[in-house]
Amino acid sequence: MIDYDSLIEKYKKLGVNINDLPKREMIKSEEDIKAIKKAAVVNNAVLDEVAKHIKAGMSTEEINTIVHNKTIEMGGIPAPLNYEGFPKSVCTSINDMVCHGIPCTNDILKDGDIINVDCTTIVDGHYADASRMFMIGNVDPEMKRLVEVTKKSLDMAVENLKPFSRLRDIGYIIEKYVKSQGFSVVHEIGGHGVGNDFHEDPFVFHYGKKGTGMVLFPGMVITIEPMVNEGSRHVFLDADNNWTIYTEDGGWSAQWEYTIWIKEDGVEIIAH
Ligand code: MF3
Ligand code: CO
Ligand code: CO
Repeated sequence: MIDYDSLIEKYKKLGVNINDLPKREMIKSEEDIKAIKKAAVVNNAVLDEVAKHIKAGMSTEEINTIVHNKTIEMGGIPAPLNYEGFPKSVCTSINDMVCHGIPCTNDILKDGDIINVDCTTIVDGHYADASRMFMIGNVDPEMKRLVEVTKKSLDMAVENLKPFSRLRDIGYIIEKYVKSQGFSVVHEIGGHGVGNDFHEDPFVFHYGKKGTGMVLFPGMVITIEPMVNEGSRHVFLDADNNWTIYTEDGGWSAQWEYTIWIKEDGVEIIAH
């Protein structure tokens, strides 16, 4: 375990603003990490189960059933269900849906679609959160590239991440790479601290200035979950369901999410 107080002293002496230092409650205990890892085992298996069955002709409601049943069967609880009124056990976001798509019987996957499946699992009161993209049948090469660039932006941010990295380095790397590939990064929704609750501080930006933002201490657990748009980065909220985010211009959007543990000697992807 880190010595939180002496680290805070050290960074204060270095002139780092107190607002850029993590609060004590952001540092997970060894028991917390163990429980988060148990949640991640289930979450990873649930996403593997989706990967096995997802195909054209399937409704997003059927994906919800797979996620719900597999989670319960493995002793977990699907965190989205009833979270702030969310009605289903998973988010399913197709094509121009950026995130928080609500599974339903009317949304049928068809050849060429891209879909994000975002699962969060609770085990012993602890949370793991991850999402993957799935490409249905023959996907347009440019949309395939969108999916791959999004994944690579996340992997590049993780590769660069170290204990005591600055938070905004994550977004700096993501947006720089995404823009170089001709795509855009959504700003309004970000990653987050996770583990003892679904959404904890800090907010993890997917854009920003290198070398700024919170100093990431060992013991922190965060998600990184870039949403990358084919066209404009601007989005809007579905006024009917108050959940689903869409691209403003109707362009397609991709997202990948990991739960990441910042350790004393590096970082570990816990859920993916
Ligand atoms: N899993 C999403 C995230 O990555 C949050 C979904 S909230 C829900 O933070 F209520 F829509 F499930
Ligand atoms: Co998620
Ligand atoms: Co998340």
